[in-house]
Amino acid sequence: MTTTSVRVGLLGCGNVGAALVELVRARADDIEARTGLRLEVSRVAVRSTTKERGVELAEGVLTHDADGLVNDPEVDLVVEVIGGIEPARELILSAIKAGKPVVTANKELLANVGAELFAAADNAGVDLLFEAAVGGGIPLIRPLRESLAGEEIRRVMGIVNGTTNYILTRMTEGGVDYADALAEAQSLGYAERDPTADVEGFDAGAKAAIIASIAFGRRVVAGDVYSEGIAGITSTDIAYATKMGYVVKLLAIAERHNGALGVRVHPAMVPAAHPLASVRDSFNAVFIEGDAVGELMFYGRGAGGLPTASAVLGDLVDAAVNQHKGSHASIGTLRKAVLRPIDEVESAYYLNVDVFDRPGVLAAVAGVFGRHDVSIRSMEQEGLGGEARLVFITHLAREAAVQATLRDLNQLEAVDRITSMLRVIGDD
Ligand SMILES: NC(=O)c1ccc[n+]([C@@H]2O[C@H](COP(=O)([O-])OP(=O)(O)OC[C@H]3O[C@@H](n4cnc5c(N)ncnc54)[C@H](OP(=O)(O)O)[C@@H]3O)[C@@H](O)[C@H]2O)c1
Repeated sequence: MTTTSVRVGLLGCGNVGAALVELVRARADDIEARTGLRLEVSRVAVRSTTKERGVELAEGVLTHDADGLVNDPEVDLVVEVIGGIEPARELILSAIKAGKPVVTANKELLANVGAELFAAADNAGVDLLFEAAVGGGIPLIRPLRESLAGEEIRRVMGIVNGTTNYILTRMTEGGVDYADALAEAQSLGYAERDPTADVEGFDAGAKAAIIASIAFGRRVVAGDVYSEGIAGITSTDIAYATKMGYVVKLLAIAERHNGALGVRVHPAMVPAAHPLASVRDSFNAVFIEGDAVGELMFYGRGAGGLPTASAVLGDLVDAAVNQHKGSHASIGTLRKAVLRPIDEVESAYYLNVDVFDRPGVLAAVAGVFGRHDVSIRSMEQEGLGGEARLVFITHLAREAAVQATLRDLNQLEAVDRITSMLRVIGDD
């Protein structure tokens, strides 16, 4: 087999970029033996050319000039691991215009302007691959696009944010409260100093938009995703969940219902026997339910330089082989999704209501549930001195009906406060 050299231009050399440089070096011989293509990172664009990166780069490889890199005739293929929307978007569009396949790990970019980039790549007849953008090292996009291309997917549910999964695992297994678990995640480098994007569910929301677009072939952007984070989860919620046989997880959910797509991120109580309940620490997993295939789960390291670089390298090999053959993988034009608003979504609910312990309270509370057609599956009462705590699990109910129930319960004189509401997923 004759060898063809493939010169890779790398945009960004941080956690993922630096790991990719090492991985390309380590795997180049094997990849060459299998494909006849010799990958070599020939140019690397960064902000600072003097920063220590922990990887060896030959003289002249590092540059400030990202525009120059994408248009350099000596670069065959471009990898974008800068992150954020600009200048990543402009640079990718330039590379595509120059006829170069692009591999990116950038979820924020794809969840906001993915359709524009996919259309540009399709028009130019080049690959735009993004396996690493969801679930880091876990193969998910390619299985959804290729292996499951013939499948009618009903629902995809994922634990797609390692930071929040670590925090919830520590709260569940270590008995620590939210603030301490977050501080621990920060000291271990799992959470950023400003953890908003993770703990408020925005990072998972971007990934949910990408998953929904690929699984259902419709355009879903980050702004379409209903997001709730984990900052309101208390040790009491965790204790009740454990007692009732559940585990609290932050789930990204995309599901089809009568032609509409419900795409959302929120914490949920998952039965302890459900495969997602066993996903601990900073691990990620995505659970897929299809009409013919049944249930599947993909599990692994959802972040980290090396696992993410592994997914980028897989795409790189694919893009290089396609380029060599003169073909490309097309996402095609995605039509805008018909969205199912959160108010119409159905699930079971866990509600925790503190009431004044007097005669007639239970009947008044039950009356409110009944008025909104929310049927109670189980109820536990616990004395708290002059007060009592009522813990309900409902049958399947519409979100709007449960929200109306909560509003009316708050109006009852006998109700002191509603301490929590969590959706219960995976019992159906
Ligand atoms: N880290 C993960 O575990 C992970 C997992 C999945 C996906 N991703 C995605 O991968 C991408 C990269 O993440 P990362 O963790 O590697 O980020 P990072 O460590 O912050 O690295 C970003 C790199 O981009 C460079 N850069 C920033 N602005 C630039 C510009 N205008 N021109 C040229 N270079 C520029 C930086 O240069 P300097 O070094 O000179 O500052 C740095 O090398 C993001 O989209 C992220 O969402 C990351």
